[in-house]
This record gives sequence, C-alpha cells and structure tokens, in this order.
Amino acid sequence: MKNYMAPMEGVTNWFYRNAYHECFYPMDKYFTPFITAKPNKRLSSKEIKEVSPDTNGKLPVVPQILTNNAEDFVKTAHIFRDEYGHKEVNLNLGCPSGTVTAKGKGAGFLGEPEKLDRFLDEIFANTGMEISIKTRVGTDYEEDWERLLEIYSKYPIKELIIHPRLLKDHYKGTPRYGLYEEAQRKIKVPLGYNGDIFSVEAYQEIQEKFPDADSFMYGRGIIARPYLLDEIMCGTRMKKEDRQSQYKQKMRQFHDCLYREYQEYLSGERNVLFRMKELWSYMAPGFTNYAKYLKKIKKSQHLGDYEAAVMSLFGEQEIL
Ligand SMILES: Cc1cc2nc3c(=O)[nH]c(=O)nc-3n(C[C@H](O)[C@H](O)[C@H](O)COP(=O)(O)O)c2cc1C
Repeated sequence: MKNYMAPMEGVTNWFYRNAYHECFYPMDKYFTPFITAKPNKRLSSKEIKEVSPDTNGKLPVVPQILTNNAEDFVKTAHIFRDEYGHKEVNLNLGCPSGTVTAKGKGAGFLGEPEKLDRFLDEIFANTGMEISIKTRVGTDYEEDWERLLEIYSKYPIKELIIHPRLLKDHYKGTPRYGLYEEAQRKIKVPLGYNGDIFSVEAYQEIQEKFPDADSFMYGRGIIARPYLLDEIMCGTRMKKEDRQSQYKQKMRQFHDCLYREYQEYLSGERNVLFRMKELWSYMAPGFTNYAKYLKKIKKSQHLGDYEAAVMSLFGEQEIL
C-alpha cells in the first residue's frame, strides 16, 4: 500500500511538499497541483518550480496536467520528460471548479465520454510515458460510471486514482464507496483511493473496506493534520502524551520551515501572510480552543503580529 499526497492548487506546492517531506512521514508520491496544457506551451517560472528537480530535490513528484486537448497534453508531458526527467504524468479528471468544467476539462470532461475515449486513445498512443489518472465518478448520475469504467479499461493506465464523488457533489456528503467497489469488480488497472481520510479511524475504516487498494491519497486530512501519516504508520506504538508532544514539535518545525521558505521566495509580507493564513484555516481546528488564535492569525497585517499569534497558539494550546 502506497501513500500519496493529493494535488491541491494553492496548497501542496513545492514549498509545502519539501517542508512536509523534511518533517513528517514521507509520501511515496507527491502530485503537483494541476498545470494547464496550452498550445505552444512554455512553462511559467512558477510551473517550472513545481516540476524541476532543482526545487524538488529527490522528492518523488508527479506532474499533473489539466486539458481536454490530446496534442497539448502530449506536448506538455514531453516538456516534463525531456526537460525535467519525469517518467509519469497524471491527468486531472476531477477538478469541480466551474471555470474549469465549463470548458469541458477536469471533472467536466467526464460528461463527454466519447470525446474522452478519443482523447485517451491519442494520448496513450503518443505520449510514451506512464500515465496515471485522477478521476471523479461522473458528472451528475451514478450511472455515468459504468461507461467511464468501460473506457478506462481499454487503456494501460499506470494507476486510476478514484475520488468517488460526482462533479455535482463537489466535496459534500459521504464518498460514494459503492462506485469505488464497482471499479474494483470491473476493471483490472491498479486502483488508488482518495477521499475523506481525515483521521486514523477514517483510515482504518477505509482500509478495511478496500484492502486491495494500491494506494491511498491524502488531501484535506493531511493539510489539517500534517502528522496524520505518522499517526497512521507509527502512532499506535506510542503513548498518547508522547504522541501529542512529538507531533506538536514536528508541527512547529514544519511551520517554521515553510514560513522561512515563503519569506525567502515570495515577494512582500502580504503574499507570505496570504499563504500562511490559508494553511492555518486548515490546521488551527486541530488545536484545543483554537478560535481566538485563528482570528488573530487571520487579522494580522504584518509578520510580527502573525508570529506573535502563532507563538501563543503553540505555547498555550495542545494538539487534539
Ligand atoms: C483547495 C483545493 C485544491 C485542489 N486542487 C486540486 C488540483 O490541483 N488537482 C486535483 O486533481 N485535485 C485538486 N483538489 C482535489 C484534491 O486533490 C482531493 O481529490 C480532494 O480534496 C478529496 O480528497 P480529500 O478528501 O483527501 O481532501 C483540490 C482540492 C482542494 C480542497
């Protein structure tokens, strides 16, 4: 069973992945947030940092592509391969954002199965790299899934990572576990599971449901509790008090590392604060009595105010 960090636009960027990898239980793969393929694609400097070994060191990073145009996909994948040494690319068929789906991309592409089939035919014939797919299970109806599975079963997909929600679900409700089971029954490609692994208990429940999954992918759960995989892999062997103090220490180290990186690479206090505040909206609820500290963090206009608020949260509260 492998563990993957989910691609999350604006969150799991190269700064985040490096800091995470240094401080916590390492993931087997880190997927970049989506990079849009365009005709005559040249990567922006931000995109280069996402995929370049210069900024990602030895981390096992897989670039993710968002497009519904096969030629653009192939060209972009070849840039990743020829200029940055990647062997695998991932196709985004899950993004539910209206601006993406309106153009028939991300989860929107699942609404045009015949076009998707032709697209996959072309990219599998012409890319010459390993292609994994991250998919939702349809747009509006559970019945969509059967046709999509028929299509997926035709191609040598390196791994099909399934977030078992429809596009219309966004992130609401419980994942549609039955549709993941249907994939297990009907297709032979390696399958990964993604969705709502927010705690050790949730992990155990899903692991029991899907013991044959090749991988589990962690998104919001790992952002909120970056020590979640440490807890899953080694936590049961430690006493609760030891775990709490060790994870809090690691959180502090992780925070300081990421904060330092952002200050070094981003221009201006505002950009650094924007990133850190977004992160705290996920992480703060993992602390006792967090509300007033989060308010202070969110209100801070300067790095000094921010640091004071973070220091008092770490100093005065415990992780749950
Ligand atoms: C803020 C945010 C950004 C995301 N960006 C991407 C992305 O760039 N590519 C992608 O495939 N999925 C993206 N996702 C979806 C996640 O990768 C993941 O599938 C989803 O959060 C469900 O997993 P979780 O329940 O473990 O969070 C994003 C989700 C969120 C909340």
